[in-house]
Amino acid sequence: MSTTSNILVEMRGVKLKFSDKVILDGVDISVREHEVLVILGMSGGGKSTILNLLMGLIKPDEGELIFKDEDLVKLTRSKLNTARSHMGMVYQTAALISSMTVRDNIGLPLQELSEKHEEEIDSIVDAKLELVGLKDVREKLPSELSGGMQKRVGLARALALEPELVLFDEPSAGLDPINSRLIDDLIIGLRETQKVTSIVVTHQMESAFFVATRMAFLHEGKIILEGEPEAFRQSDNPIVGKFLASYSEHKKDKK
Ligand SMILES: Nc1ncnc2c1ncn2[C@@H]1O[C@H](COP(=O)(O)OP(=O)(O)OP(=O)(O)O)[C@@H](O)[C@H]1O
Ligand SMILES: [Mg+2]
Repeated sequence: MSTTSNILVEMRGVKLKFSDKVILDGVDISVREHEVLVILGMSGGGKSTILNLLMGLIKPDEGELIFKDEDLVKLTRSKLNTARSHMGMVYQTAALISSMTVRDNIGLPLQELSEKHEEEIDSIVDAKLELVGLKDVREKLPSELSGGMQKRVGLARALALEPELVLFDEPSAGLDPINSRLIDDLIIGLRETQKVTSIVVTHQMESAFFVATRMAFLHEGKIILEGEPEAFRQSDNPIVGKFLASYSEHKKDKK
């Protein structure tokens, strides 16, 4: 049995409605340190919403969002900012600031949440760009980059503060197979070398099974299956089975 001491993130009984529509209907998720939890589920099911809740960007109607033993829902703004400085998020759409260069986009969390000097920020920006496989883009504006490149700048920004927890929303959507693999290797590398904990939302099943140490399936506002990747492959849950089968059929069709 694991002890509660190594649980980094926990959602307990989280409920959320948008207007009158129930999106999350009692979500329980716990993520231990150094895990890569992959969240699967249908489009529109609430996966991005879960990540937004964990970043403290929206508040739940009910339930607790525990990060490092504190309930994010109850924190003051300044304590929430401190908690956020330990997290990084790669947004589904890259969500870069269009009027700022790549350098300033990646440097923004450092500028806002750290005491680093400009020179230190420059060298962090360069290191993170190298990590995501980008060169010669430092002084460019987001509009001068392809969608996939913007996505990788978003990832570099998420890593700028050396976060303990990284939330990845479709990190390799829109990337070619080589860059997709680079992101997968990066997620695994962060876990293995820097003890980073990650939560990854993806529709790319190959990638999901490659990076996950554990998986959770969100359906109709609840986690209906949670376990190791092998448990997912062997699951006799009809909804999960149908979901995974549709991806492998799609792959066969393409052959
Ligand atoms: N800020 C918001 N205001 C109102 N409704 C919202 C908001 N954000 C999300 N929703 C709704 O909540 C539901 C879940 O959205 P969410 O983006 O979390 O789904 P998702 O599982 O990430 O889907 P996808 O796989 O397509 O990215 C959708 O019905 C969406 O329209
Ligand atoms: Mg989403």
